[in-house]
Amino acid sequence: MCGIVGYIGNNRADEILIEGLRKLEYRGYDSSGIALADAGKVKCIKTKGRIDVLAEKVGDGYADAVCGIGHTRWATHGEPSDRNSHPHTSCDGKVTLVHNGIIENYIKLKRELTEKGITFKSETDTECAVNLIAALYDGNPKDTLLRAMEMLTGSYAFAVIFSDHPYTLYAVKKDSPLILGVGEGENFIASDIPAILKWTRRYIVLNEGEIAEVKRDSIHIVDRHRNPINREIEHVEWNVGDAEKSGFPHFMLKEIFEQPSALKATISPRINNGKVNFSDEGLTAEIAERIETIHIVACGSALHTGIIGKTLIERLAGIPVDYEIASEFRYRDPIIKKNELVLLISQSGETADTLAALRLAKERGALTVAIVNVVGSSIAREADISLFTHAGPEIAVATTKAYSAQVAMMELLAIYFAQIKRTLPPERIAQLLNDLTSLPSQVENILPLYETSRELAEHISANAHVFFIGRGLDYCVAHEGSLKLKEISYIHSEAYAAGELKHGTISLVSTGTPVIAIATQRDVFDKMVSNIKEVKCRGAFVLLITRKGWYDESDSYADQVIELPEAESLFMPSLVAVICQILAYNTADIMGCDIDKPRNLAKSVTVE
Ligand code: F6R
Repeated sequence: MCGIVGYIGNNRADEILIEGLRKLEYRGYDSSGIALADAGKVKCIKTKGRIDVLAEKVGDGYADAVCGIGHTRWATHGEPSDRNSHPHTSCDGKVTLVHNGIIENYIKLKRELTEKGITFKSETDTECAVNLIAALYDGNPKDTLLRAMEMLTGSYAFAVIFSDHPYTLYAVKKDSPLILGVGEGENFIASDIPAILKWTRRYIVLNEGEIAEVKRDSIHIVDRHRNPINREIEHVEWNVGDAEKSGFPHFMLKEIFEQPSALKATISPRINNGKVNFSDEGLTAEIAERIETIHIVACGSALHTGIIGKTLIERLAGIPVDYEIASEFRYRDPIIKKNELVLLISQSGETADTLAALRLAKERGALTVAIVNVVGSSIAREADISLFTHAGPEIAVATTKAYSAQVAMMELLAIYFAQIKRTLPPERIAQLLNDLTSLPSQVENILPLYETSRELAEHISANAHVFFIGRGLDYCVAHEGSLKLKEISYIHSEAYAAGELKHGTISLVSTGTPVIAIATQRDVFDKMVSNIKEVKCRGAFVLLITRKGWYDESDSYADQVIELPEAESLFMPSLVAVICQILAYNTADIMGCDIDKPRNLAKSVTVE
């Protein structure tokens, strides 16, 4: 998390940096700051709070500067405050930098540097890095940075200015993403593409351990062994408009409404001649035939898609699947054998724990397949095979369209493995593919619920606790419904297997407690009704999400009902998720929450 930018050119650096930071605010928004190199001096302007506060503080006072670096912070070490904000300058004033990542050995470094008489102004790990670099500085920035890298442990993307080289920026990358934007007579450094897209579509991805020297007319990259690197320039395929709100009040709402096209773009290219095909992407039938076990590893919502994936793949293809939180997997010494597939799921492709899990799985000889949204991201580049969700850039911190595209990938993969393992008759495969192809239009049909569900959201917003219950696939999607609601509305919410509630948690249900009961699976519907009645008779306000015609009004166990159109049972999570997103959005909107940037969160979690 944290977003960093850098600019060197002929235009106003303050404006370009602040504009770039606005595009990276999704990476953290506890504080922000810029450092401008002007007339041989480096000036820092930084403040707690959002980019608007910084923009006001900068004003028109720095219009002449054409070179600088900037940062938007998600606090890890030290509270959000002016003094902990980046950029940080070394005690001797020679080096200024911005940092994304965590310096793990900062306590030891701080002790050593303090012994040498260096004083610290902030509580950050970053200030140790900048002072270490200054202490090592011998007039050769590149060489100094390489030596500093040998002494720093943890993750870092830095943009650095040396005050005696005021018109050169240095970019350093280890385990945190960094790209270089290539312009005409100007160049950029950024954590992510949206920050540079207004000025250039050409970019270079920095690889692990690389350092770039960025001047107005040149970029020189070296690896950690000082070898020069000649990297090809890549082109951004998507438009600036894709990263704008386009008239929607929030990115989240825009992204909810983009789901039909995200699903279509993810599903259609993989279905040819009545078959699912991933061979163009490297997953050939020969490789897939050998797979006997699948481990799904991811974080947050991406893991929730894996929970659905387990049910679908096991049910359709008979391959055993387990799923695990990446931060647990990587430290658990997991048993992974040859011919096992480790499936990593990540929107950003930069989540630190998922990336570490990928590296561990590779070390242990597994085949690694990544389902990723961001092309060129670390996970996409390091996995043996990358299957891209084509959801387009997702800006709102709470995922919607990327989650839905990941679920679509699970649906495709389950059918694909069933095809390869011949576990289903061809007619059933044909029918499933037909149903999957109609999913985008089915999602389109439920979007008007955005207008009609406000009253329901009013009810939810008046409560402090909410439960989502379901069985089977409905329980799988309940995890995501619950997370969506709590992360943007701050209402406490839990997802429960409907049959499990009575083993303790039902004691929390009292008069008026909203229980969102998801009941779309025929085989467990009657059991669900019994479980719903258990909460209803204890006073719960039941919102039932079910299939058209399934709810018997005379039984009156639901206070409100949302009916879903006809669709394949196995794909119901794709529809239910959209309803849950809409409910969460409306609830948070009614409560006046900061929907696109919920408190304490950041979109790209590049620290452990
Ligand atoms: C919740 C959300 C997060 C992410 C998680 C993983 O709305 O977006 O839970 O799903 O941080 O991120 P990625 O998919 O980028 O690895």
